[in-house]
Amino acid sequence: MTQQLKNKVALVTGGGNGIGAAIVRRLAESGASVGIIDRDEASARAIAAELDASGVHTAVVVADISSNSAVVDGVNAIEEALGPIDILVNNAGWDSLKPFLDNDESHRDRIIDINLKGPINVTHAVLGKMVDRAGGRVVTISSDAGRVGSTGQAVYSACKAGMIALTKSTAREMARHGITLNVVAPGPTRTRMMTEALDGDDASAKHVLERMTKAIPMRRMGEPRDVAGIAVFLATDDASFITGQVISVSGGLTMHG
Ligand SMILES: NC(=O)c1ccc[n+]([C@@H]2O[C@H](COP(=O)([O-])OP(=O)(O)OC[C@H]3O[C@@H](n4cnc5c(N)ncnc54)[C@H](O)[C@@H]3O)[C@@H](O)[C@H]2O)c1
Repeated sequence: MTQQLKNKVALVTGGGNGIGAAIVRRLAESGASVGIIDRDEASARAIAAELDASGVHTAVVVADISSNSAVVDGVNAIEEALGPIDILVNNAGWDSLKPFLDNDESHRDRIIDINLKGPINVTHAVLGKMVDRAGGRVVTISSDAGRVGSTGQAVYSACKAGMIALTKSTAREMARHGITLNVVAPGPTRTRMMTEALDGDDASAKHVLERMTKAIPMRRMGEPRDVAGIAVFLATDDASFITGQVISVSGGLTMHG
């Protein structure tokens, strides 16, 4: 792997597990220093220790991205440790599958806080700094659920669609500052989030996911590494003229024109 991101600093939210951890590893392989903001301290510190051992500069902040003040402090702490952030990967997210009418207000608020308010907090905190430095890359991990909907994921899908709209709007505002913002939209991917959904006591959740896998033309669920490559590509110079775009990584499950 070429060191296309040598001397770059990346921040990955939710970098301790699943898709985020695969992106953290791929960014490090490409030469970047990597900061992680995650509420799962053990996982975030484990992956940072793994990379530190191979000479990669890392920094970990344990925080919940739904708290704006924690995000502002966390972003400052990452910059103090590693230097100015060149690349932001908005990856942290969470869902538990339930039919829409079974989502009470506190469940709905929890999903919105993590999947919409959280990445808006992080994007806001980082973009101001990128504008001051006239450059940067933002890659947001949304979901195909935000493009085509997903049974049992109505509120989550609304948040993921919201992040697509936020990306397109900010991409228009930020182009003149040399900042690109793009979205990667995974389909069903084998991670803890997916396992927890499968292990839920709602039998219909398992049924929905099995049906989705059968519907994937490549007949398998995605793996975290399937998502990492495109996320890192969007942070390289080769992607400097790509902004406001949404790219699905779903084995062909969704094919929008
Ligand atoms: N797994 C899938 O099938 C799938 C499909 C489409 C999109 N996605 C999206 O991919 C991203 C990564 O998901 P994953 O499947 O790797 O999940 P995961 O549960 O394996 O990892 C998510 C990580 O985010 C962290 N996190 C969650 N909420 C947080 C918060 N409020 N503050 C700080 N950290 C937080 C977790 O601690 C964890 O380390 C999410 O945005 C998810 O919505 C996943």
